[in-house]
Amino acid sequence: MREPVFHTLSSLCPKALAAEAEAGLLAPQAHCHPKLFYDALGSHLFDAITELDEYDLRRTEAAALAMHQEALGRALRACLPQQPCLIDLGAGSCAKGEALFALCDPGRYVAVDISVDFLRRSLQCLQRAHPERELIGVGLDFSAELALPDSISQPGSLVFYPGSSIGNFDPDSARRFLGQARLLARGGALLIGVDLRKTPAEHQAAYDDALGVTAAFNLNLLRHLNRLLGADFDPHQWRHRALWNADLGRVEMHLEAQQALRVNWGGHQRGFAAGERIHTENAYKWTVPDFEALLHAVGWGQAQAWCDPEERFAVFLASE
Ligand SMILES: C[S@@+](CC[C@H](N)C(=O)[O-])C[C@H]1O[C@@H](n2cnc3c(N)ncnc32)[C@H](O)[C@@H]1O
Repeated sequence: MREPVFHTLSSLCPKALAAEAEAGLLAPQAHCHPKLFYDALGSHLFDAITELDEYDLRRTEAAALAMHQEALGRALRACLPQQPCLIDLGAGSCAKGEALFALCDPGRYVAVDISVDFLRRSLQCLQRAHPERELIGVGLDFSAELALPDSISQPGSLVFYPGSSIGNFDPDSARRFLGQARLLARGGALLIGVDLRKTPAEHQAAYDDALGVTAAFNLNLLRHLNRLLGADFDPHQWRHRALWNADLGRVEMHLEAQQALRVNWGGHQRGFAAGERIHTENAYKWTVPDFEALLHAVGWGQAQAWCDPEERFAVFLASE
């Protein structure tokens, strides 16, 4: 049996992450990048979220892929070499990447994630199920720049970015990221999942479930900050808030101080008034024409959308 190979790239530097987190906490409107949700517990909590009744993104994405499986397989074969390199961005449990193996039979699977310990365990399990396949894990923070050494990617790669994680980027940053994904594919293609606009109530419920799993996911960020900065956040003093911002077409997650409090770390401190918030995530929701236009704007020649039967989620295949 092969062993997965791991690389940790320099962008994943705890000092840089800590400096960025600190700047966000000290900003007039405190904020934190959503990548900080993902320590090992955060990755498990995200997987639990995808099982919730209220959060249907995994189910609708799977329905879109299942419904168009044959046509999608043909389209992939038409725009990719045989046994392409499959690059899974934010691979997490690698379950979605593995599900693509049947469709594109990758010669190399490159799983990229910021949550390195979780990714390492995921890839080791995957290797047991696919002992002969070449698996590469890459610890990388792609929020500043998405790029891999040429020795890891290959010409004609399939870049896979499922789960509507692109919704975490505002439209300008999404354009930049999709342009970088095009360079990463090196003449290949991009397969990307995008959650579509629904009613405000549906969006809000998806990010504020009855069991409080999303609340735990959001609050876990404070534990992560405590470790990263040596801070003394007490999660009991905070509560999860999810809001639909109709003007900007996005769900926002915040952590709200339940009382006036003070947080200390490494010679810094910040006071929060009762009700003051730390903005922790945006999840932009798209329409099919707007996302198609975005793909064309960064130079993808072909872009096709494949939706689930109720048109709640779209999977786009973009190629040169
Ligand atoms: C919403 S989860 C999606 C997981 C999986 N791809 C899916 O669709 O179910 C986002 C994933 O991206 C990873 N991630 C988030 N921000 C990242 C960053 N800046 N660089 C690399 N990975 C990141 C997280 O650790 C997590 O595994």
